[in-house]
Amino acid sequence: MTRARRLRALSMMVAAALLLVSCGDQELPQNALDPQGPVAQKLANLINPVFAVAAVVFVLVQGLVLYSALRFRRRSDDEAPRQVHGNAKMELGWTIAPALILLVISVFTVGTIADINSKAEGADVVSVNVTGHQWWWEFEYPDRGVVTANELHIPTGREVALRLTSDDVIHSFWPPKLAGKLDVIPGRANFMTLEADEPGTYFGQCAEFCGLSHADMRLRVVAHTPEDFDEWVRTNAAPAERPTEGEAGEGAALFRQKGCASCHTVNGYSAGELGPDLTHLQQRKVFAGATFDLNEQNLRVWLRDPPGEKPGSLMPNLELSEDEITKLIAYLETLK
Ligand code: CUA
Repeated sequence: MTRARRLRALSMMVAAALLLVSCGDQELPQNALDPQGPVAQKLANLINPVFAVAAVVFVLVQGLVLYSALRFRRRSDDEAPRQVHGNAKMELGWTIAPALILLVISVFTVGTIADINSKAEGADVVSVNVTGHQWWWEFEYPDRGVVTANELHIPTGREVALRLTSDDVIHSFWPPKLAGKLDVIPGRANFMTLEADEPGTYFGQCAEFCGLSHADMRLRVVAHTPEDFDEWVRTNAAPAERPTEGEAGEGAALFRQKGCASCHTVNGYSAGELGPDLTHLQQRKVFAGATFDLNEQNLRVWLRDPPGEKPGSLMPNLELSEDEITKLIAYLETLK
């Protein structure tokens, strides 16, 4: 290697290292290495020591490779390396050492798997049925009479027992700061426990390719203090009030005429089951697989052409006029 080429290789390595280091400076909403609850902490307690062991092995092996390449490199054209034939001690060593390391790792791994897969039970546990749909999440609180979409609301400091299943294809539920990743399979129930230490919003998404808008199948876990959670449940368990006058009243009528009611439930008004329950839509910050912030402008864009915004969306383009959209939004804004 010439000096210039060596210099170029070195500078590229430095640049790559800088690039990797700079990743750590940003806000990372789905950082799986930043546990925010006991379940995620158990995973971190497994990952971190395994990574440390792997790092030591990596440095050791790569160091030896580098050392051998430099120390025993050919220095002239007619030089042949010294021929050796086996070394029983070393061969035994590098067979037994990795076997022992893997044995220790597998003991801790199996223990952690059993631990995080044990079903949460007890009076304090919050049960939620999670259903994956192409492409949004349904969250049902069977003991509380609440159904919502895309935002999973939980109290802090309590175990939340999720029962996950799918309505169509295989999805994967993944809230990286609170728990691991679990397949969501049609015709089968999987169970996951999660828990958040602090109130806040934790991001997640579907982690199994599930069709055209897989990337638009995001989710949020919103952790409240226990008091705020009870308040949230009270609000969301109540039926919706139906406006009868003005734009909102006309919007409510359109909600039936245009067929919205045959796909969406508004508790006390409609009972559609294909799309998200809209009874307390305004309690959410996002909609359409948690891809849009919930506001008037985004709702307008969405209602003009749902499949244009979320490719493959089961919600069709209803060819609504701007006036109809205005009225429908006025109605949706009453769903508090
Ligand atoms: Cu659901 Cu990917």
